[in-house]
Amino acid sequence: MNPLNHVAIIMDGNGRWGLKHKKSRNAGHKAGLVIVEKIIQETIKKKIKYLTLFAFSTENWKRPKKEINYLFNLLENFLKKKIKDLHSKNIKLKIIGFKKFSKKLNHLLDTSERKTSKNTKLQINLALNYGSRLELIYAIKKLIRVKKKIDTENINQYLLTKNIPEPDLLIRTGNTRRLSNFLLWQLAYSEIYFEKKLWPDFNEKDYSKIIKKFKKTKRNYGNI
Ligand code: IPE
Ligand code: IPE
Ligand code: MG
Repeated sequence: MNPLNHVAIIMDGNGRWGLKHKKSRNAGHKAGLVIVEKIIQETIKKKIKYLTLFAFSTENWKRPKKEINYLFNLLENFLKKKIKDLHSKNIKLKIIGFKKFSKKLNHLLDTSERKTSKNTKLQINLALNYGSRLELIYAIKKLIRVKKKIDTENINQYLLTKNIPEPDLLIRTGNTRRLSNFLLWQLAYSEIYFEKKLWPDFNEKDYSKIIKKFKKTKRNYGNI
């Protein structure tokens, strides 16, 4: 049975779900947030140590302003309401991404990270304004600037995921089979599961089924 230390999720399909059920993409984002909470609970139950959630990509700025504003409002309200609860559950919150938001949101993200920084039960990495290519460009530029050797170890040290182990398992919901610029370097040897369900329809049972399959998969890492 494979140990499972880190699950990464591309939570895709909110917009389509919202349009189908409520005639509004934003309603899908709201519904998706409920699932985030359920999956966090289940991750703790399964004693998994790291959960990385793709919430907003560097490419998502191409979306209509109205949708972007809705998403960030949702995030802000969620954090304001839930950070105490996350902290009391011994959860550490880490933002991976380029923190270039409003002053207010930057501050909220910083204080949330600081407040929970010593927690040990589960680390949630929230990928916000995250893009793998930009992350790699910055890392390599930095290595050149400090005149360090460009090798795997040094690159790992300058990525936004510094000190976070590589994901064992990646799940993408929403019936789309692509990585959309998510953790391209870090996913080199992760097991990948594409789930047909849209994110707001995903549940603990689906999650457990995927984990069960993952645990039985033979991981080779190039070996036999
Ligand atoms: C993923 O759902 C959530 C974010 C990108 C914020 P989408 O909004 O991409 O939903 P679909 O893929 O359009 O249905
Ligand atoms: C990936 O989904 C980003 C998040 C889930 C946050 P997208 O919906 O943005 O991906 P594409 O554009 O369909 O590839
Ligand atoms: Mg999508």
